[in-house]
Amino acid sequence: MEHRTYQDNGVESWTEVNLTYTAALKQVQTKMEILNDEFQHVHRYNPIEHIKARIKTPESIVKKLRRHGYESTIENMIQHVNDIAGIRVICSFTSDIYRIADMVREQKDLKILSVKDYITYPKASGYKSYHMLVSVPVYLSDRIVDTKVEIQIRTVAMDFWASLEHKMHYKFEGAAPEHIKDELIACAKLVADLDARMLSLNEEILGMSDTEAAEI
Ligand code: GTP
Ligand code: MG
Repeated sequence: MEHRTYQDNGVESWTEVNLTYTAALKQVQTKMEILNDEFQHVHRYNPIEHIKARIKTPESIVKKLRRHGYESTIENMIQHVNDIAGIRVICSFTSDIYRIADMVREQKDLKILSVKDYITYPKASGYKSYHMLVSVPVYLSDRIVDTKVEIQIRTVAMDFWASLEHKMHYKFEGAAPEHIKDELIACAKLVADLDARMLSLNEEILGMSDTEAAEI
């Protein structure tokens, strides 16, 4: 079942929609935590460093609708704003990203609506991250509402870079000085290099037996 059709755009409708997105976010966050716990139990390893979850503010929803030329109605936000509920999963190594994405794909109650692999195909800005738009059924007292949640999966280093780039974007409203943009692109290369080196170092460490390590 879908969200109710709203006759008005009042506060009450928004409160109800907000409640559904909050529930969807909680469900996805719990799923990720369970998968991480299970992974730790089976493989003695945590693929997830930490998780950040947030509901988009009404101000940013309205701004996004306006940017895309839509009127600010509840219907439009449900249909056109895909990141009202957003969850960011931060991991240590690039290999963890695909491991987590595969675990998400295995969840039978999640419907994968779209995937954007900005790890294999980084943005021109240098941005790297793996995005999955999923839909999760939220069980309310009288109906089930399929609700969209945007999942962003990235390494600690990619997250560090994205936070600074976001700050720059926000500060200059997209029109940042060239030297700052160039420096950020250079930093993105350093981040990619760091991620690759840390991954191979980790693989080397994991590949050594305890006896081999003790003999060194
Ligand atoms: P938005 O309208 O910005 O949500 O983008 P989109 O609908 O084209 O989807 P996309 O998957 O490209 O981006 C979704 C989200 O990823 C954004 O809201 C940001 O949180 C993040 N993101 C995408 N591109 C960049 C980028 O170049 N820099 C940073 N810092 N974040 C980005
Ligand atoms: Mg967004």
